[in-house]
Amino acid sequence: MLHWFWPWAWWMGGLATAIRPGLISDCERLADIHASSFAHAWSRHEVEQMLLDRHVIDVQVSQALIGEIVTGFAISRLVMGEAELLTIALDPETRGRGLAKPLLAAHAQSVRRAGGETLFLEVAEDNAPALALYRGLGFSEIGRRKGYYPGEPGAARRDALTMRADLSGLDPTPRFW
Ligand SMILES: CC(C)(COP(=O)(O)OP(=O)(O)OC[C@H]1O[C@@H](n2cnc3c(N)ncnc32)[C@H](O)[C@@H]1OP(=O)(O)O)[C@@H](O)C(=O)NCCC(=O)NCCS
Repeated sequence: MLHWFWPWAWWMGGLATAIRPGLISDCERLADIHASSFAHAWSRHEVEQMLLDRHVIDVQVSQALIGEIVTGFAISRLVMGEAELLTIALDPETRGRGLAKPLLAAHAQSVRRAGGETLFLEVAEDNAPALALYRGLGFSEIGRRKGYYPGEPGAARRDALTMRADLSGLDPTPRFW
């Protein structure tokens, strides 16, 4: 989706972003970003249920001419100190600009503040941007699920890598990025 805001942002030479907890009013936009990122889209209702079920949800907002626009988000489920990153996604228009790292770093701090000690995730073996992001933030590979993800029509299934980060030593103090 090409939003009116992006040409203005390019003209300004960059995006000023901040990360904050998700709100019910964000759900429609988060469902849109999810739909443009994954084959099986979550509905607005599913995202809303996650917020109400007390998942840890952080959204990345970018300053627009008037107000702000949500450009990405991360969601984790937390049970007894173990968290699972259910998804992280950026609006396709804002990818490749280094915005995912501050989002995931701030999200890990949120998970830590909520009591998480470890953060697990699953990623397709050929998802190069996601793998670079996770490795760069200290996630290490702990397993592989053969043929876990369907491939493109006519192509072979892809393995899932499972990864883990230890959050116990993480400073949970929020920062300005
Ligand atoms: C995964 C995702 C959030 C990463 O965001 P991004 O804006 O593309 O990534 P960034 O620009 O922040 O870069 C993250 C790292 O990936 C690297 N990278 C970016 N695009 C890349 C590409 N096409 N190939 C290889 N590496 C790439 C960057 O160099 C950076 O590594 P570095 O910190 O070592 O320099 C984004 O691509 C996305 O929303 N993808 C669709 C949803 C998805 O797949 N989510 C993950 C599910 S497990």
